[in-house]
Amino acid sequence: MEHTALAPMAAPRADGLHPPAAAPNMPIIQALDVVKTYDTGKVRVPALRGVSFAVGRGEMVAVMGPSGSGKTTLLNCLAGLESVDAGRIIVDGTDIATMSDRAKTDYRARNMGFVFQFYNLLPVLSAVENVELPLVVSGVKPKEARERALRALETVRLKEWQTQKPAELSGGQRQRVTIARALVNDPAIVWADEPTGDLDSETADEIIGLMQDLNRRRQQTFILVTHDAGVGARCRRTIRMRDGLIVDDGLGNVDGVRRSESLKV
Ligand SMILES: Nc1ncnc2c1ncn2[C@@H]1O[C@H](COP(=O)(O)OP(=O)(O)O)[C@@H](O)[C@H]1O
Ligand SMILES: [Mg+2]
Repeated sequence: MEHTALAPMAAPRADGLHPPAAAPNMPIIQALDVVKTYDTGKVRVPALRGVSFAVGRGEMVAVMGPSGSGKTTLLNCLAGLESVDAGRIIVDGTDIATMSDRAKTDYRARNMGFVFQFYNLLPVLSAVENVELPLVVSGVKPKEARERALRALETVRLKEWQTQKPAELSGGQRQRVTIARALVNDPAIVWADEPTGDLDSETADEIIGLMQDLNRRRQQTFILVTHDAGVGARCRRTIRMRDGLIVDDGLGNVDGVRRSESLKV
């Protein structure tokens, strides 16, 4: 495999907001020796112990590994939801440490979609209201927000269920609403943490098929954490974690052991 050196970082724009569009062959996400330790006061838990890898635009990557190996922490750090103690995370050419909280929030709202357990549907809102929420929050006009939410629900084949509340939907339908919400802003990157965790295998299959389809048709980058080997097998690449390290980044790199090599893609 040919190795190319890391592309140089793009300078942040004066307004601190959106980085210039990255060259097509530039990774959309890069982690360089990322360290994250949780300090609970009593114990220090090393959740990420020097993680390095890169993901190219339009990839669909599974992150697998035992419970407690740092998968959720990795996603939270990459998405800028949690700070890191050392190392760098470069998203779309910008080191996220150089972005203000405001700029990060804005970048996320425009460019990222989340299918996370903690980020659940609001029970009092209908399916379409849940889906349009991220748009309404980021200031999109109600009429346009509704139109886009309905299009997103159509993508996940739930348009007829738009007025239903989460409790009136099946587990699979609820997860499809969550995916519609993650996709409503047409994000470049979609993060999913155990998106099929609570679903039967048939429904899980359908959800992953939907993600694969979107990944192919829209060139959206999907990074999904999963315990399910069947789900992992359907992603084109699998990153394996153990004890806060990547033991295989799916491209033959192992951080910790060959860290200098894994800084290259
Ligand atoms: N908020 C937190 N406070 C303290 N420890 C945490 C916190 N979140 C995660 N951890 C610890 O960090 C390690 C990695 O956790 P996590 O990223 O959730 O792993 P995974 O998603 O692979 O199960 C675990 O040992 C976990 O107990
Ligand atoms: Mg987890």
